[in-house]
Amino acid sequence: MRPKKIENFVVKIDTKIDYALKKINKNLFGIIFVVSQKNILLGSISDGDIRRYIIKHKNISNKITIKSKLINKRVKTINSQDTNKKLFNLLEKGFRVVPKVNKKNQLIDICTYKNIISFPIASPQISKLEVSLVNNCLQSGWISSRGSYIDTFEKNFSKFLNFGYSLAVSSGTTALELAIKSLKLPKKSEIILPNFTFAATINSIINSGMTPVLCDVRRDTWTIDYEKIKKLINNKTKAVIPVQIYGQAYHVDKIHKIAKDNNLYIIEDCAEGLGGKYKNKIVNKKADVICYSFFANKVITTGEGGMAVFKDIKTYNTAKMIRSHGMDPKKKYYHNIEGSNYRMTNIQAAIGTAQLKKINYFIKKRKLIFNIYDNYLSKIKFISLLPKNTWSQNSYWLYTILINDFGSRKRDILLEKLTKNGIEARNGFISLNKMKPFKKYSRNNLPISNYLSENTISLPTSINLTKNQIKYIVDLLLVNIEELNYVK
Ligand SMILES: Cc1ncc(COP(=O)(O)O)c(C=O)c1O
Repeated sequence: MRPKKIENFVVKIDTKIDYALKKINKNLFGIIFVVSQKNILLGSISDGDIRRYIIKHKNISNKITIKSKLINKRVKTINSQDTNKKLFNLLEKGFRVVPKVNKKNQLIDICTYKNIISFPIASPQISKLEVSLVNNCLQSGWISSRGSYIDTFEKNFSKFLNFGYSLAVSSGTTALELAIKSLKLPKKSEIILPNFTFAATINSIINSGMTPVLCDVRRDTWTIDYEKIKKLINNKTKAVIPVQIYGQAYHVDKIHKIAKDNNLYIIEDCAEGLGGKYKNKIVNKKADVICYSFFANKVITTGEGGMAVFKDIKTYNTAKMIRSHGMDPKKKYYHNIEGSNYRMTNIQAAIGTAQLKKINYFIKKRKLIFNIYDNYLSKIKFISLLPKNTWSQNSYWLYTILINDFGSRKRDILLEKLTKNGIEARNGFISLNKMKPFKKYSRNNLPISNYLSENTISLPTSINLTKNQIKYIVDLLLVNIEELNYVK
């Protein structure tokens, strides 16, 4: 990849200026380093320096050569003895590339973020508070699913949402399974879900003995299409699971009306949507159950973990029994109904309790990261950002874009190239109808979900990314898209 190709960053003194400009164009960093015939670093020239020179001398001849007076001689360099910290500080100050020189001041390398860090897709933010609460569990011996943090986490969670009765469980997937089972639907009832989601949504339906029915999504939200839901409803349909995909709110009121008219339950898969808003509210209060995930890449984490939040206490009480093998709460080892072990541990709940205290800070930081990316990418014609509208606000979970008509083949090569450069990017979720175990659950064409699935990628969204780092990621993204001969 270009930034490591030193020749794209170097020209010899007395070289023609148009040759230097071509190299600047190739390396995409807006700067070139000038060396003597013996490779001694003489200085740098930016594309701005050349522009100013041409304007001043009213000469755009391609015969101009690089002369000493054109060169900025105060270039920041590093040498072999310098620490990564020095390089990091220079990059953070806004030097996008830093030349590395030997004792004779000869240019030996060109350094970027790639030399010192890689960018994971997400990184959990664990601080002293989590460590201290986990320590409390370890020292007290309350390490399984009994212990005070479970109760605290559940209560604080409902308080944060200002809604419902929360049950902490072992994952977002088990939250969904528990939600479905607690509704006591007839066996093999049909449950409608979007085709563009993570497999957990459909697996939870299958694992609960129900029949999934795939529905296409909408281009204006990337979420389940309320018009198309209507066509899939029959007398076996008992529920719908709208997914807040990539933190996007679905058309809550429209789907609520369909559910009401057809006597359907709404189970919201909000695994990716914690903190997102619908009509300015963090919870729309229309779903019967809302399910969250606390996997390590989510808005808050408990390592693995999830929460099912119930609108009514009766279903909550049923779910609470199912979570623990259907055991009667008043009669130990007497089992009222079938169940399983879906419990969260006290250790996970301790982490969750600490994380929840910081949730507003996390969301604020995530919003900032999204805004910086948007700022760079909204001007790029061939990229569509996550849809925006006046009635909702994304949870800022994972920064995801659509490269218009790019195609999955090019997209996958792009991902490989980014990975080689230390940038962990991801393809959009593969639409469920395109995978062997789930094909049989589609009844209609699903063009929008298939299109989104083939053309989307997610970029690093760790909350400690800096503006310069995001710029670096964006530059590499764009140069690699260009290299793939993408016709816009
Ligand atoms: C849309 C969606 N639903 C459900 C889940 C399941 O959550 P978990 O991984 O905690 O089981 C995820 C997790 O990534 C998800 O993205």
